Amino acid sequence: MIAKDAKRLRIGVLGAGPIAQAAHLEATRKARNADLVALCDVAEDLLDRMAAIHTPARTYTRYDAMLADPEIDAIIIGVADQYHVPLAQQAIQAGKHVLVEKPLGVSVEECEALRAAVQASGLVFQVGNNRRFDPGIAFARTFIREQMGQVMALKAWYYDSFYRYTMTDNLQPVPLASAAVQRPAGNPKGDKQRYFMLTHGSHLVDTARYLGGEIVQVQARFSNRFSAYGWFVAVDFADGTLGHLDLIIPVQGDFEDGFQVFGERGSVIARGYLPWYHKASHVECFSAADRQYHRMLGEDAYTYKLQIEGFADTILHGKVQLGATIDDGVAAMRAMVAIAKSAENGHWVQLAEVSGGV
Ligand SMILES: NC(=O)c1ccc[n+]([C@@H]2O[C@H](COP(=O)([O-])OP(=O)(O)OC[C@H]3O[C@@H](n4cnc5c(N)ncnc54)[C@H](O)[C@@H]3O)[C@@H](O)[C@H]2O)c1
Repeated sequence: MIAKDAKRLRIGVLGAGPIAQAAHLEATRKARNADLVALCDVAEDLLDRMAAIHTPARTYTRYDAMLADPEIDAIIIGVADQYHVPLAQQAIQAGKHVLVEKPLGVSVEECEALRAAVQASGLVFQVGNNRRFDPGIAFARTFIREQMGQVMALKAWYYDSFYRYTMTDNLQPVPLASAAVQRPAGNPKGDKQRYFMLTHGSHLVDTARYLGGEIVQVQARFSNRFSAYGWFVAVDFADGTLGHLDLIIPVQGDFEDGFQVFGERGSVIARGYLPWYHKASHVECFSAADRQYHRMLGEDAYTYKLQIEGFADTILHGKVQLGATIDDGVAAMRAMVAIAKSAENGHWVQLAEVSGGV
């Protein structure tokens, strides 16, 4: 049995697709402070099959009907990127707290408009950058903030693997599909340069900002060879830290995301695993104070559950929001657009000046 808190967040999940199947439905059920009250998907056959597995109290085929349910406090939005902003806007208007999948949206303008609505609402809004809940990354962040002193330089990288689907097929539940699912017109995943930036770049820039703070400007180089897409990006952080980001999708090697940070009184090196292993990143923090490397082990690393628990703790108990805020989501969108624009000609691009999408 999963031990549950007395006070729990009543969650409705929008979308019974792959991310809900592999993460949000089980994670909501396992979260100590949340209940899966409802599930909504237009695809009725998929909805019924997922409801049989995860037993929400209610199911909905219409989103507006789920939003009208007074016994739902918060919505998890697990649908295509192009729908994130309009469906989050609807949830905010209905007075529901929101945890929306990353990336926040697909253009700077729509993300800015959503920010205005979120700020006016007073509701809790979180973006699904689940890597923030990797206890290894959290350990590194605390070390950087509390022990490292001034930071000189931060490098972060993210490589997907040609072989990741062999791993995810083994790690995730057998996927269920339907011919009746709702997806954006055309094929948004068809333009790989754009899709990879949105789906993978959103994790990389968020981790870089989580550790290094605001990014002011970027200068990117891009290459597409064989079926791989690579971005090498010089980054200036607001506090003067020198930054570098690499994104290569996919590589002839293992999935890896990681970072190296060099500071006044220490350094950090971290290597993360494919998130579906639910295993904390391997992080080593060198402290000049004792001239030793420090590592953590044994923490719960089910990031999809931990992000729901953090979201619920903020709503139920007013705890500091550990997950990505609306401001983080907007800043990540600006960073991705700036990288994409800079990659066109190699010029430095200021995040404050970008518009449009990637
Ligand atoms: N954080 C992570 O590690 C991670 C991993 C994978 C995917 N994602 C994100 O998850 C999101 C969703 O991915 P997916 O592959 O599950 O999407 P998908 O499009 O395959 O599935 C979405 C489901 O939502 C339903 N739906 C869409 N709009 C609806 C509406 N208005 N009303 C009712 N039902 C609706 C569809 O019918 C479909 O079943 C993406 O933004 C992606 O970036 C995040």
